[in-house]
Order: sequence, then C-alpha cells, then structure tokens
Amino acid sequence: MKIWVNGSLAESDTAALSVLDHGLTVGDGVFETVKAADGRTFALTRHLDRLTRSARGLGLPDPDHAVLREACAQVLAANPMPLGRLRITYTGGTCPLGSERGDQPPSLVVALDTAKRRPDTTAAVTVPWRRNEHSAVAGLKTTSYAENVVALAAAHRAGASEALFANTAGLLCEGTGSNVFLVVDGQLLTPTLASGCLAGITRQLTVDWTGAEERDLPFEVLFEAEEVFLTSTLRDVQAVSRIDGHELPAPGPATLKAMAQFAERSADDLDP
Ligand SMILES: Cc1ncc(COP(=O)(O)O)c(C=O)c1O
Repeated sequence: MKIWVNGSLAESDTAALSVLDHGLTVGDGVFETVKAADGRTFALTRHLDRLTRSARGLGLPDPDHAVLREACAQVLAANPMPLGRLRITYTGGTCPLGSERGDQPPSLVVALDTAKRRPDTTAAVTVPWRRNEHSAVAGLKTTSYAENVVALAAAHRAGASEALFANTAGLLCEGTGSNVFLVVDGQLLTPTLASGCLAGITRQLTVDWTGAEERDLPFEVLFEAEEVFLTSTLRDVQAVSRIDGHELPAPGPATLKAMAQFAERSADDLDP
C-alpha cells in the first residue's frame, strides 16, 4: 500500500515520521476519516474544512487544502479498491519531549485501508465514562483518542460495535466514532453540538436531509426511544437493535426512511 508522508508517496511498511513527532509523544494532532468508493471521495470539502477547524482549535497552522487534495488523489490512484477508508492525519511535527511545541513544520500523512460495507443493524453499549463538553478540545477531531480505544474495547467485549457516552451533565452525547439519533414520540432527534459531540459530517447531512431536530436529551432517553440509529462516515445511517440488554426494533420505520434518504442524496452528490 502506498501512503503520503510529508510531501510524497511511500510504501506504508517503510514510510516513517520522527519518533519525536508530537502526534506520537502527546497526541498533538488532528485527523479525518473519509469514505472513498471506487477511488472517489465523499464529502471531501466538508472533511477538509473540519480538519482546518480542528487544527485551529489546537493552534496548528491551517493545512493547505490544495496539498491535501493532491495527497488524497495520489493515494487513491496508487491503491485502487472498491471501498476505502482514507485517513488524513496532521500533527504538530517533531517537537521537544514535553507538551510545548517546537519550531518544526507539522507532519501530514494520508493513508488508506480497505473498508467493508457495514451491516444495516448493530448493537451498542453504554459506558460509565463521560465526554467532557467543557474540554479545551471538545468538538475537535484530535488524535488523542485513547478514551475511545478503551470504550470501544468495552463494546467489543460485550458483543457490540459502538459505545455511547453521556457528557458531564448526564446528557446524551455520542459514540466513540459516531453520532446518535433517536425517535421519541415519533420525532427524530439528535443531541446538540453543545453536548460536546463531534460535529459529524454524516450527522449534519442527516439533519439537513431528514429534518431531525437537535435537542439536549437525558442519557436515559436511549432506553425510552422508539428507535435509535448511529451515523458516521463509514456507517452512514445504521440502525441499533440492542443497547446493553435492551432490544429495539431495527431498522424501525423512521430509521429505514433516513437510510433511504441518506443513500439517495449521497449518491446524487459526492461533495454535498
Ligand atoms: C467522536 C466521533 N463522533 C462522531 C463521528 C462521526 O463523524 P462523521 O460523520 O464525520 O464521520 C466521529 C467520526 O469518526 C467521531 O470520531
């Protein structure tokens, strides 16, 4: 597999960054996961804009979108595949060992992996750990994802594919790598961005295309909802059939409708 590292393509087995890269030593970096079907990216402009917002949030220089587009195009052309997960990682670069940044330029890696179409339904678990909606990095897609690693491992141990977090106020927030939607009293709802969730690109498109309402919701609403679904770049819209031991109809009628709307609108426009 060929990947892009700081300006050129390299074999992924031998491609290298400094071991003193701040992304490695302190998780000082931001990233994007982009879906690519038959070499064509979905919603790339939104992903690049979010990468810039995340980079600004960490005080990193704005990434050059022309370079990012060229890197994505070259990596996709070098590794043809039906469905791919393109990963853009942009870090603080080589730095001193502490939390302060050095004077070296940022590092940019664009990597690709094969992806499989997700099943239409999945199981989720709740976890006791909280998202901190007051954090300095709330809402930024940073490479400091160890909390998600721990929570996702807990989900996998329970036979589920996603773990759902409340925030410090006890409100429903998001999953380790997805946003959550629910049907309550027939209304399609999703937590507000003030909950501390990531402004998911799939979330925003789903809100725009289905008319779902953003609302602050108590975490326990997960167990009262008529339907629950997850959204993310690689899940699109995915029905949840079980949360902890609680079974849900999946896909329920509102979820099926959202799945169909998402499939149709995303096929119509690859960069909505
Ligand atoms: C924490 C978190 N929430 C939500 C999402 C979903 O965002 P998107 O729809 O942009 O993939 C992601 C994406 O991986 C994520 O990491």
